[in-house]
Parts: sequence; C-alpha cells; structure tokens
Amino acid sequence: MKINRVENSKIDSIDFENLTFGKIFTDHMFISKYKNGEWSPGEIKPYENISISPSARALHYGQAIFEGMKCFKSEEDELFLFRPEENFKRFNKSSVRLAIPEIQENIFFNGLKELLKIDSDWIKKGIGNALYVRPFVFASEDTINASEANEYTFMIICCPSKSYYGDMEISVKIEEKYSRAAKGGVGYAKAAGNYAASFYPTKLAIEQGFQQIIWTDSNNHNSIEEAGTMNLFFVVGNKLVTSPTSDSILDGITRKSIIDIAMFHNIDVEEREITVDELIKEHSSGNLKEIFGCGTAVVVLPIKSFGHRDQLYTLNYGKNSISSFLKEKLNNIQYNISDEFENWKFKIN
Ligand SMILES: Cc1ncc(COP(=O)(O)O)c(C=O)c1O
Repeated sequence: MKINRVENSKIDSIDFENLTFGKIFTDHMFISKYKNGEWSPGEIKPYENISISPSARALHYGQAIFEGMKCFKSEEDELFLFRPEENFKRFNKSSVRLAIPEIQENIFFNGLKELLKIDSDWIKKGIGNALYVRPFVFASEDTINASEANEYTFMIICCPSKSYYGDMEISVKIEEKYSRAAKGGVGYAKAAGNYAASFYPTKLAIEQGFQQIIWTDSNNHNSIEEAGTMNLFFVVGNKLVTSPTSDSILDGITRKSIIDIAMFHNIDVEEREITVDELIKEHSSGNLKEIFGCGTAVVVLPIKSFGHRDQLYTLNYGKNSISSFLKEKLNNIQYNISDEFENWKFKIN
C-alpha cells in the first residue's frame, strides 16, 4: 500500500483535554477509489481536503453511507478495536441497500490497521479516551443521472474523542410527528440521509429543552425504536428490555454486546416490542427503573427523563444502576482490563 506521511505532525497543537467531538482529525487518512468495476488497494496520505466534482452524485442524491467505531489504548500501550468485523459487515450491508458496490475485507482492514498504526500517538489512555474511526463511502461519479453511480470513493478518517456527552444524563422527547425510518426504508442502514432527516426534528426537540429524540414507529408512533445515534434499553422491574432490531432500527454493535454482557452476568434480557403506553404505565407504577441509550459514540448513556406530549417523566437512579454496571463491564472489555469476551477485542499490531 502506498503510504505518504506528513512532514510535521499537528499533534502537539491539540488540547486533548478539551476536544469537541468530530472537529479535530488525525494526521492521516485512507482513500480507495472504485472505477471500472473494482476498488483500488488504496493509499494513506496526509489528512487534507479532497477535490470533488460539483456533479458528484452523492451531493445530489445522497448515495453515501458510513460507519463509526472506536480504537482504545490499554494501560500496556496496546491498541484495540472493538468488534470491527461487525462494523465491516454492517458497512457492506448499508452499501448493498444504497446500491453501492461492497468493499473487500482486505482493503477495508489493511487501510484501517495501517492508519491506526501511523496515527497511534493520537490515541490516549484512560477510560473515556478513544480514537473515533469513521469509514465512509460516497458516489463520486461526475454525472447527475438519478441512478446509482459507477464511481465511488471510500475513505477512513479518525478523530480523537472523549465520551460524547461526558458523564451527563440526558432528557429525551418521544417523537409523535416525525419519523426516522419506515418499513421497507433505509433505517437499518447507516445511510447519510437518515441523519440529515433527523436534524430538523432534533432541532425542534432541543428548542423544547431536550437533548435527543426517541423515535417511534412511523405507523402509530407507539412502538419504541431508538434514539439519536443510540439503541435503547429499559429496566422494567428487574428485567432489561430492548426493542428487536428491524428494517427501521439500526442493528447496533453496542446493543448486541450489552445483551450478551447482561446475560453473561445473569441479568434477564427481553428483546420485544416496548410501547409508549407500557412505558408510561410502568413509570406510574414505579416499575420503570432505568432507561439508557447505547452506541459507539456514547457507550452507555443514562436517560434521566422523557417527555411525551405535555408531560415530563423523571427517573431517579443512583450509582448502583444496571446501566453503570453494564457500562463498566463494557469499558473493561474495550480497554482490555477484563478478560471477558476476548474474541471481541481486535488487537492492532
Ligand atoms: C441510528 C443509530 N442507532 C444506533 C447506533 C448505535 O450503533 P453502534 O452501537 O453500532 O454504534 C448508531 C450508531 O452507530 C446509530 O447511528
């Protein structure tokens, strides 16, 4: 693989204690192009602007998808990705749905591994510190036919991160007007346009004092789906409940890991439909103990209250919550502190 390193790293100018998520990028990036029916092996080069035609189809029709994963540094200075094979599978699943050609595993992983090795100083130790890795692909062909393109660009860029919302607990709005996804749509894919479509309803929710939206099914707005870039869990009585994934819910890697960790620690897990009606009923009977979101960016994030119509429902849970237990177990795997689920750790060497 061709590797072109920066002459001078910008790392010394970065304040790693005060990072705004997604704003600072490491010194290098990986890029591969698809043309004449095949992906190039790709190259690593300094992180820089790219040139793109104004008629590139992604700009007009949103033919673009992405992934999000994290690389962690252990106390022993080893680098670990968390279940990147799952991201790779989902990347291609998203691509198929958007009529984008799948990328070969060796191009994806060779680019990823080399990039992480070159920019390894950007990954800081300590729980909460990680390198957020963003692989993405977009239609770069320069013709505005409203059909799938023949040329694409695949890239990986990385940004140092602290956990997304820090240690805060958030308040969410149960959305009843707008929908994130519908049956038969692209909700299960990490399609760029899914996120664009969520910004306006989320902006309205923020104006109303919430931080995020809980999306409900597009038919009746009663079945709970997910929130922002998180899947959701509810502690009802002593059971952990989460909606089953479907074509309108992203099949989160953190979600499936939380289910396995919980079961490993003998917590009862139910994957079943959970409705807004049930949530409100269980809240009023005192049976709804916790709600938390989970995802690569946030890891595990407790939700302190939810708004439905004009009502705000608050939850009180202390330090011994199931969410904090699960977060700790997950972090311990990610930073190679515990030896549980060894096969989820993907060591970079
Ligand atoms: C819409 C949506 N739901 C859920 C998630 C959580 O998925 P994961 O745990 O794989 O990061 C994400 C983030 O990737 C997301 O964008």
